[in-house]
Amino acid sequence: MESMTRKRFLNLLLGGGVLGCLGSVIYPVLRYLLPPEQVEAEPDTLKAGTMKDFPIGASKIFKFGRQPVIVIRDVKGVFHALTATCTHLDCIVQYSKEADLIWCACHNGKYDLSGKNISGPPPRPLQAFTVSVKGEDVLVVRTA
Ligand code: FES
Repeated sequence: MESMTRKRFLNLLLGGGVLGCLGSVIYPVLRYLLPPEQVEAEPDTLKAGTMKDFPIGASKIFKFGRQPVIVIRDVKGVFHALTATCTHLDCIVQYSKEADLIWCACHNGKYDLSGKNISGPPPRPLQAFTVSVKGEDVLVVRTA
């Protein structure tokens, strides 16, 4: 009678251990495979800084939601905002003040300031954003 109780106790202990192991594997896999119920809201407007932060020929890269965006004040003083991820292999682009264009150092890809791919391997243009200046604030607005 006592050995049956001990055997049952050991079976319960073993079964609980197996269930615990399975749960510790299955739960993270399910969390990875199933999307979260609440989708993270993407902001539509980003304050990139103030006019003082953007002298002529300056550029800065920001996170806009999950996307890096490059904000440029070109040599003529005009603002541009574009995705900063190269359309070739996702390197981060930079503004070349000397050439007044956007350059990807990875494979020498070039874009004009409207985001159009003009030379090198990039297959598509960069996505453009709207820049508005309100008072001293430089705002980047997602258009579509
Ligand atoms: S990743 Fe930009 S040109 Fe290749």
